[in-house]
Amino acid sequence: MQLKDKLILALDMPDPSKAIETVDMLGEWVNVFKIGFELFLAGGPDIVKKIGDKGKKIFLDLKFHDIPNTVLRSAELASRMGVYMFNVHTSGGSEMMKRCQERVVEVCLKENLDRPKVIGVTVLTSISQDQFKGELGFSHTIKTHAKQLASLAKQCNLDGVVASGHEASMIKRHCGDDFIVVTPGIRPSWSPPDDQQRTMTPKDALKNGADYIVVGRGILGHDDPLNAVELISLEVMSV
Ligand code: C5P
Repeated sequence: MQLKDKLILALDMPDPSKAIETVDMLGEWVNVFKIGFELFLAGGPDIVKKIGDKGKKIFLDLKFHDIPNTVLRSAELASRMGVYMFNVHTSGGSEMMKRCQERVVEVCLKENLDRPKVIGVTVLTSISQDQFKGELGFSHTIKTHAKQLASLAKQCNLDGVVASGHEASMIKRHCGDDFIVVTPGIRPSWSPPDDQQRTMTPKDALKNGADYIVVGRGILGHDDPLNAVELISLEVMSV
């Protein structure tokens, strides 16, 4: 398996010029870069444009979680930015997800834009089963919850979900092979878990059906990020 088609590099950094340097350093091996709150708050739409102008695909990870009207108006703007994918929280409910996708389709048709993939966040990979029960008050398992939210996202015509590697194969079985699973919480052998709880190695996540693995600190926290990409590349070659 070619890592370049599967890796999303999380540009979790507060400095837009550093982000550009990172894209220049790793662009030959990475096609999709993720811009989350931190970089977007520092660099705004300009950093999205600059990285897009380098021919790279952008995953805009702003995890919209609000009332339907607010989300669909934001989705319209994300579509005009030309991002490859963006995400919303599935727990925002069916009306929000359905209307968001409808608005994206409508605006892209009307303005002749490439339609971004709309991806639903299920359960954050930083949440453990104990927290899920003890703090959030759910009596069922994270797996059951993720399955329910992924099914809802599918019914609302979303393109896929964000879920941990532990739920990826179950979601694929349940929602179909063409329903995209994006998997963060990836930890190569050299990388500590940090704040992530439901972690998995790049190879295991891809073997479990993830379409994309999101890696931040596993690469950018390595002494030699390029070498980290090479090592992951070798690891997943046999998948
Ligand atoms: O450094 P690390 O590889 O843990 O970074 C994971 C990235 O994926 C972070 O940017 C985080 O915001 C993002 N993410 C996540 N869990 C989700 C959705 C996104 O960890 N459910």
